[in-house]
Amino acid sequence: MANVAIIGAQWGDEGKGKIVDLFTHDADIIVRFQGGNNAGHTLVVDGKKTVLHLVPSGALHPGKLCVIGNGVVVDPEVLLKEIAGLKQTGWLLDDASLRISEEAHLIMPYHKAIDQARERLRGEGMIGTTGRGIGPAYEDKVARIGIRFIDLLEEETFQEKLRRNIEEKNIYLKAILKEKALDFNKIHDRYSGYREKLKTYVIDTGLLLDREIRAGKRVLFEGAQGTLLDVDHGTYPFVTSSNTVAGGVSSGTGVGPRHIHQVIGISKAYTTRVGSGPFPTELHGSEGEILKREGIEFGATTGRPRRCGWFDAVAVRHAVRISGITGLALTKLDVLTGFKKIPMCVAYRYDGKVHEEFPASIRAMQSAQPILEEMDGWDTPLTAVRRFSDLPANAQKYVRRIEKILETEVILVSVGPDREQTVMLKNPFEARQ
Ligand code: GDP
Ligand code: IMO
Ligand code: MG
Repeated sequence: MANVAIIGAQWGDEGKGKIVDLFTHDADIIVRFQGGNNAGHTLVVDGKKTVLHLVPSGALHPGKLCVIGNGVVVDPEVLLKEIAGLKQTGWLLDDASLRISEEAHLIMPYHKAIDQARERLRGEGMIGTTGRGIGPAYEDKVARIGIRFIDLLEEETFQEKLRRNIEEKNIYLKAILKEKALDFNKIHDRYSGYREKLKTYVIDTGLLLDREIRAGKRVLFEGAQGTLLDVDHGTYPFVTSSNTVAGGVSSGTGVGPRHIHQVIGISKAYTTRVGSGPFPTELHGSEGEILKREGIEFGATTGRPRRCGWFDAVAVRHAVRISGITGLALTKLDVLTGFKKIPMCVAYRYDGKVHEEFPASIRAMQSAQPILEEMDGWDTPLTAVRRFSDLPANAQKYVRRIEKILETEVILVSVGPDREQTVMLKNPFEARQ
């Protein structure tokens, strides 16, 4: 039996939440390995919608273990709210079904203040962050001044680290960002309260995962964001501050790469992006509006409208290579119903040449013109389809064309937000290792 990683293959919001919830059926443990509450993962079960930001998307199945790995940055206030919300609806009732890594870093109030103030000062050049303090929290982690859960649990260490950080951040907030200073006591007291409520969940999750994997348990690793938002491989600097690619699974959980057997890339049948940055296939006219309307393309975290465009095979091929994607889950195919012709981007043109590979240069990305190939569309709604052979012939051709261009098998087609609205072609947990 395999352990499986689920990775966003575009700019986030590909439908990872839905697919993780679906595959949780075959897994024992579901682990987040990076990002924070910049993520918004939507799960729809029997028509009822749940949006998760920090708790892994396995939470709506009884008897599964959800783990927040060391690579995640955690805003304790958001996490506590999410846990309370889940408990209220009858999930996560057993505290032992959630575990948080003692090495995971905390998002502090100054991280949020810095994130938001910097965005304001950037004006036109803003990244369009979610304002949740993600970037500044990862900066502190790499600068070796971050506060981890283990530090929060040790009162003396916590006080010492918090005092030093607040001193430094207040100078930065006041002098550079022209913001108000933050109060040590207030933050200390608030976070001490969080410690009392969260300490029951905090353990060495790397060790736990090792034991469980040795015991034959199946693990599903849940990515947040997407490959093109990866801090190394994405459209830098218009990216998030973590490694969203499959390589991030090991560093973000403490589970060695040999235990990751399948990597499933999630991609929409078209493309969306929230926030700033280059997007070669973006549509500015009525077709983009149709995608936004039919796909209900509004951010699950910030509510911002998502920018919409055609499928970009150059971008997803990049994701396939970087994460070693073994199979693709293609979501939101239903949204394309009704288009007479459906273009997809097979290469970029910039600097007077045709390019089939994703460029590192932000200037090249900003000037890239998509080279489009047109496929015939279909009219019949797809939301009730459960078998590939029941898809209209042109929808089948569209999927097969994507497989061919990406040289990657499509293992699942999603035709609606609900868990049930799925055409399963191959179960990655049953794949041979
Ligand atoms: P994530 O961040 O990758 O988990 O994705 P989000 O939850 O932010 O955004 C995906 C949105 O598309 C959510 O509103 C889902 O309910 C919805 N969704 C997922 N799969 C499908 C699908 O196949 N068809 C349609 N119409 N909606 C889908
Ligand atoms: P899920 O997991 C879509 C984007 C932001 C911004 C950039 C940096 O739901 O797919 P950050 O707050 O991370 O510093 O913002 O990254 N972004 C996302 N876009 N889905 C997400 O998560 C995102 N998380 C961050 O919009 O452009
Ligand atoms: Mg999302």
